[in-house]
Amino acid sequence: MKRIKAIYPGSFDPPTNGHLDLIERGSKIFDELVVAILRNPEKSPLFSVPDRRSMLEAMTSGLDNVSVETFDGLTVEYAVKIGASAVLRGIRAISDYEYELQMALMNRKLQPTLETVFMMPAEKYSYISSRLVREVAQLGGNIDCLVPELVAQKLREKMDPAFKFAKAEPAAPKPAKTRSRKKR
Ligand code: PNS
Repeated sequence: MKRIKAIYPGSFDPPTNGHLDLIERGSKIFDELVVAILRNPEKSPLFSVPDRRSMLEAMTSGLDNVSVETFDGLTVEYAVKIGASAVLRGIRAISDYEYELQMALMNRKLQPTLETVFMMPAEKYSYISSRLVREVAQLGGNIDCLVPELVAQKLREKMDPAFKFAKAEPAAPKPAKTRSRKKR
């Protein structure tokens, strides 16, 4: 029987609850799903590629048929190299459609054997994007329901490096009061 391997390419800077929702949906319809992080030297990302990889690995550790890899160059070339026959992409709203359609058609032109499959994340995630999550976090807003807890933690550390140490090291106990000796 033919096994279908798909890739889910993206920047994932940072990965969000919307990404995770799509990965979970994709893992149910494909035999194998490779989450592929683009290594883009032109962009200056908030999180390094190894950071993004470790966050995505932790987020998907319960999904047996999902793996996380990194790639550079053309998505279609990477897909062919790893034997994937489909590219998974999410469409949240009609505003995503134009860009995604253009990309899907260009990918088809470059590699006609590769199919793009669009899936919709749950409505409750339809307004979440990595860009807005970064902006909200940078301005001190609450990002708790937008990203998994481990990503929220990393974002807090990124915004305020002291946060890591504040959590790791409890405040030093106050020195016990020394009783002054009664003068006799
Ligand atoms: O998460 P993003 O930033 O929307 O993902 C965009 C991504 C990585 C899928 C797209 O930029 C891409 O495929 N880049 C690799 C280079 C490439 O193949 N370009 C032609 C796309 S038609």
